[in-house]
Amino acid sequence: METELQNIVGAYFPASAVESVKQFGGRVVVTLYAAAQDDAKAEEMTQKLSRVDGVKKVSVVYTADKQAQPLQPDSGKWEIPGVKKIIAVASGKGGVGKSTTAVNLAMALSALGKKVALFDADIYGPSVPTMLGYEGVAPVSYDGKTFQPFEYQDIKSMSIGTLIDRNVPLIWRGAKACGAIEQLLTEVSWGEIDIMVIDMPPGTGDIQITLSQRVNIDGAVIVSTPQDIALIDAVKGVNMFKRVEVPILGIIENMSYYLCPKCGTRADIFGHAGAKETAQELNVPFLGEIPLHIDIRTNADGGTPIVRAQPESPFAKAYKEIASKIIDELA
Ligand SMILES: Nc1ncnc2c1ncn2[C@@H]1O[C@H](COP(=O)(O)OP(=O)(O)OP(=O)(O)O)[C@@H](O)[C@H]1O
Ligand SMILES: [Mg+2]
Repeated sequence: METELQNIVGAYFPASAVESVKQFGGRVVVTLYAAAQDDAKAEEMTQKLSRVDGVKKVSVVYTADKQAQPLQPDSGKWEIPGVKKIIAVASGKGGVGKSTTAVNLAMALSALGKKVALFDADIYGPSVPTMLGYEGVAPVSYDGKTFQPFEYQDIKSMSIGTLIDRNVPLIWRGAKACGAIEQLLTEVSWGEIDIMVIDMPPGTGDIQITLSQRVNIDGAVIVSTPQDIALIDAVKGVNMFKRVEVPILGIIENMSYYLCPKCGTRADIFGHAGAKETAQELNVPFLGEIPLHIDIRTNADGGTPIVRAQPESPFAKAYKEIASKIIDELA
């Protein structure tokens, strides 16, 4: 049946437009590149596929991955007043500690004397409000035109989580997200900011590509854990930024090794140094490693990230070292 399905898809779309044709029992999912979107053709193809023996349901989905459309010449950049430099903290895979890294880096940059803003663009799981301790608080506007950024712990921040309801379906969030992100980035009274850190959504989808094209990002930091599976996705992340000509500031290995809080013993549970090797292979800087330690989690989830809660700890120092490399690279 597989080949039959592929032949039908091939009759409607050229191979360059097709990412995959997958079959899960009676369900068939055809993934096409967004650039090839043609609803009429897709509809006809769906009808045809539905008539194949054993097929119960056909879905056509579009992906922007791999074949990002080049920036349209007429599409403008989003102006973010007052902000000098912008870095994006990204990951190919979810749950690798991107937000934890973004908030701690923001605090480390602030500890090094920079005026810092943190922007949470993660529509799938906005976590900055939790990590900076203002969850559930709505943003205010004094003039009815611009929002005041949250000012918690010396960091000015804003989160897409304050505008996007986590309980609505992902598709809706995706469709509304770009507009909401543009509004939040450009209509906040940021004041004078040396460095804005953007906590990106995981992966390399539409939002990430749009942000990379519309915002003048000075550099991207890729967070990965040491497992192969995460590193494969980290490579995808690096390549996405390269494609849209955003410089890569480097890769951080998070949860690099486990540090036992009781005895201080170190265990390389996911293997070790994979991110460093990947960075070398990709010819991008390796920025440093952060261990897996319970205090990093409890402090971030408790609203005071470790760089602030334990400023003299080796963890805070590790973040500050990375922050100082980033400052050097941006200069
Ligand atoms: N170095 C670390 N040591 C211990 N816990 C960590 C570390 N880094 C992250 N965590 C914990 O792992 C969980 C996931 O981290 P985080 O939310 O930062 O990941 P993320 O990549 O932003 O995830 P998502 O893709 O969902 O946005 C959190 O509970 C966080 O506290
Ligand atoms: Mg996150």
